[in-house]
Amino acid sequence: MTQPDAPGAEQRLKALFQVGSDQENRTYYDQWAGCYDADLTALSYPAPQQAARMLAGLVDWRDRPVLDAGCGTGLSGQALRNEGFQVMDGLDYSQGMLDQAANKGLYRHLALADLSQPQSLAQAPYAAIVTVGTLTYDFLGVELVDHLMPALEPDGTFVLCTNARAWGLRSVEDYLGTLVQQGQITGLVMRACEYLPAEHASGMMAAWRKC
Ligand SMILES: C[S@@+](CC[C@H](N)C(=O)[O-])C[C@H]1O[C@@H](n2cnc3c(N)ncnc32)[C@H](O)[C@@H]1O
Repeated sequence: MTQPDAPGAEQRLKALFQVGSDQENRTYYDQWAGCYDADLTALSYPAPQQAARMLAGLVDWRDRPVLDAGCGTGLSGQALRNEGFQVMDGLDYSQGMLDQAANKGLYRHLALADLSQPQSLAQAPYAAIVTVGTLTYDFLGVELVDHLMPALEPDGTFVLCTNARAWGLRSVEDYLGTLVQQGQITGLVMRACEYLPAEHASGMMAAWRKC
């Protein structure tokens, strides 16, 4: 996986959606890591910047800690930095992706973590948590929100951005509506966004505050 050309990038993206298990998904990201940035750049991937901009529009600080959950190679961290955020930690379950993120020198801490499991994070609580592109059709669903909410400080802001298909398959809107009804979150906003326009994949974003 070394050719950062657009047709190759498209093939590698398609192959990602063919993986048959969560372990294969993780291995796939390990192997893709070296050309992930070049591929996503070739395809155009505005989702990280849109999520970072959404957070920037919701908070009046830039110097408090932000967790980038499922940070991958750090495209989402770079987007946060572009919006002025200074202190970022990253989590991912692919060591290959984390190694690429480490090379960027953007993150305060990086850690290997499986978001399908409850998290106990040494650097918590965070003023904000951002997760971009982490929900999968088959393996990782909205339980990641349950697993991360304890790491968010009260009144902290959570931003989730995913492709619209995963949003629908994972019933994100219903799930967040339930959290509002239960009084766990407030200030919920949801809107469509660009995700991978070259692949005709639209996205959805949501943001909320922890009660
Ligand atoms: C499409 S990439 C997005 C990476 C980065 N946020 C971005 O926008 O470029 C999805 C990332 O989620 C990670 N991921 C998928 N399932 C995960 C899980 N259960 N726990 C932790 N990370 C996971 C993958 O390893 C991969 O780095």
